[in-house]
Amino acid sequence: MSSNHNNKIDNNILGDQTVIKVEKLSKKYILGAKASSSFRELLNTKVKSLTKSRKSNQEKENEFWAVKDVTFNVNDGERLGIIGRNGAGKSTILKMLSRITEPTSGRISISGRVASLLEVGTGFHPELTGRENIYLNGAILGMSRKEIKSKFDEIVSFAEVEKFLDTPVKRYSSGMYVRLAFAVAAHLEPEILIVDEVLAVGDAAFQKKCLGKMKDVSSNGRTVIFVSHNMGAIEQLCNRCILLDKGQIKMDSTDVRSVIKSYFNTLDNGNLPSEWMYDDSEINRNLLNEWFSPTRIAITDKNGKALNMPVSNDTDFYISISGSIKTIDPALTVGYAIYTADNQLLYWTYHTDTEEEKWPKFKQGNVTFISKLPKHLFNEGEYRIELISSLHWRKWLSEPGVTPAHINLSIQGGLSKSPYWMAKRPGMLGPIIEWDTRNDLVPGERRGIVEVG
Ligand SMILES: Nc1ncnc2c1ncn2[C@@H]1O[C@H](COP(=O)(O)OP(=O)(O)OP(=O)(O)O)[C@@H](O)[C@H]1O
Ligand SMILES: [Mg+2]
Repeated sequence: MSSNHNNKIDNNILGDQTVIKVEKLSKKYILGAKASSSFRELLNTKVKSLTKSRKSNQEKENEFWAVKDVTFNVNDGERLGIIGRNGAGKSTILKMLSRITEPTSGRISISGRVASLLEVGTGFHPELTGRENIYLNGAILGMSRKEIKSKFDEIVSFAEVEKFLDTPVKRYSSGMYVRLAFAVAAHLEPEILIVDEVLAVGDAAFQKKCLGKMKDVSSNGRTVIFVSHNMGAIEQLCNRCILLDKGQIKMDSTDVRSVIKSYFNTLDNGNLPSEWMYDDSEINRNLLNEWFSPTRIAITDKNGKALNMPVSNDTDFYISISGSIKTIDPALTVGYAIYTADNQLLYWTYHTDTEEEKWPKFKQGNVTFISKLPKHLFNEGEYRIELISSLHWRKWLSEPGVTPAHINLSIQGGLSKSPYWMAKRPGMLGPIIEWDTRNDLVPGERRGIVEVG
């Protein structure tokens, strides 16, 4: 946890609404001098830089821009999410906003008191107790002893560290540490709250509390900047989102969901195709027959337009199976089998799974079967869908487990509206199932058990 109240630089150039103005912000690092590199490597570069007075070409080649020409404004009360792959530059931007790292070039103007919760290990003094650190951080934020005192109990109870208040924080578990650091950052009434990945450390209950607290902070007109890999949390908290890629802004929009979607597109999900088209390759040829020759299988919207993967679990998505019929046979059955990424079959389904009167009457020519995939049934992840077609009981036309005709379904996000359920759960499926709570069902009474005292 680190705090800074000296950020009222260039205060007057900001408009009424703007609390942060970032212009052409860049940060250059020298490779090999990474914080994460080993001590020996670090020593090597130090020795090298001592023995050479000028930058060698080698060193220039080792320069790289962790953040490059980033420009954005943040308005009062905004809840801005910053997302992107590992190494995209998110933490570097937050560190520059918190004045922990100097920009190489560009400029930052901030109006308001900033409290930031960055990586574990910053901000708190390890030798000081929890109690002392709360006062220290309050003082750094420019609060009086009285102000801090008035917030003290709230902080302690939020962090649930009562018992350890007089223990040096170096003895805290990482979970306890983050609880306290978050509680301090969020309760000391900063005008701008900056939080990096805190949710990764806490348990589900704590995550929920943090999200709730950040919402409170912003509903009081304060500004929140939140970095996370948990897209559920970003979706729930943020009303604007920036996608960073290799140190640059790829997208900046109040349509948070569409930014999340682009983020997933930047991830390499193996890029498995979600659309299959018949081509005249050897392997496909035995799919040709007179009753139903498949031409296309795809995950689509209800009009048959192919959807980009991944799809969100709370949207409507369909499977469209097209093919051509030369000979009409009433026993034609078309469907699909769906498997998990580790090849567990989930179910088979056919277009004939209803009363016979409801089956379609086929004509010669092209036909498309469209079937809605149940939303909120699958878990987040990858699934494989294989074509099934047959003349029922008589002949496989395309057999699941054997057929080359298959596509892949990728589901990300939209899992649930619950603050307890923002990431993938264990299990093949992730259905949202209705729950009811009743006080009038007492098991003992129902079973007629009489308690003998
Ligand atoms: N002190 C440093 N010295 C050298 N390189 C650094 C330093 N800090 C970060 N980097 C590099 O800068 C790039 C951006 O790092 P940053 O920590 O900002 O990424 P991030 O988006 O926060 O990633 P993550 O999602 O993994 O937290 C990375 O390539 C990283 O290795
Ligand atoms: Mg980071």
